[in-house]
Amino acid sequence: MRRVVVTGGSRGIGAAVAERFRAAGDEVIALGRADCDVTDEAAVDAVFTRIGPVDVLVNNAGIASSAPLTKTTVQQWRDQQDVNAFGAFLCTRAVLAGMLERDSGRIVFVASTAGKVGQRYTAAYTAAKHAAVGLMRAVAAEVAGTGVTSNAVCPTFTRTDIVAEATRVISNRTGRSPAEAEAALAGASPLGRLLEPAEVAFAVSFFAAAGAGAINGQSLVLDGGGVQ
Ligand SMILES: NC(=O)c1ccc[n+]([C@@H]2O[C@H](COP(=O)([O-])OP(=O)(O)OC[C@H]3O[C@@H](n4cnc5c(N)ncnc54)[C@H](O)[C@@H]3O)[C@@H](O)[C@H]2O)c1
Repeated sequence: MRRVVVTGGSRGIGAAVAERFRAAGDEVIALGRADCDVTDEAAVDAVFTRIGPVDVLVNNAGIASSAPLTKTTVQQWRDQQDVNAFGAFLCTRAVLAGMLERDSGRIVFVASTAGKVGQRYTAAYTAAKHAAVGLMRAVAAEVAGTGVTSNAVCPTFTRTDIVAEATRVISNRTGRSPAEAEAALAGASPLGRLLEPAEVAFAVSFFAAAGAGAINGQSLVLDGGGVQ
């Protein structure tokens, strides 16, 4: 039985990831924001010390907000970097030494298609997800040749609270109905529909599998069409 830690595991994609590992018989620690704010260095170090050895870390905690660049506030920029990139750094740092000592471990980042290409009106989120993908690749370079791997999944719009909020914002800003706003998001990828959290969980479990030891430094785009 492996010990799996999922940050932001209380809902959405994180909850689906936690459920998938649990169903496979793993011990899963799904950290909600109340258990551990990933941007708080002392809290992260304390929680991982308490948890002990971790076999699989899923850096899933994330936030998103949208605005044209000229309307992006400093606070928005800092918040996106803080949770999506800095938080993943703190959690990865907390588990990596132990994984290397045991010569075994899997680190999976839940990034985004916004970690692969530029997307309009999401400069802060896009930059933060590129940072997360960059961190994943730097870690992969450091662990290459060991029993530890570092990879990322890059989902398109997925049916969670983040997308419900984006739908609401688009609807308010454009006057489109919520259904039309959701259709616009669904139509933004070749998939032509929203991803389901369970589909992201499947990709995470693929990278985390025991047989995936030769897969390192990869980012897997989940957009149904491979245009990126
Ligand atoms: N939903 C999408 O369309 C989509 C697409 C691509 C990538 N993602 C990414 O997937 C991940 C999960 O998002 P989701 O869609 O399930 O959204 P969500 O809002 O349902 O879940 C986000 C989770 O992160 C947690 N979180 C936020 N700030 C935190 C903090 N400071 N410390 C600890 N936990 C914190 C929340 O409590 C929540 O559990 C995020 O990294 C997001 O960027 C989502």
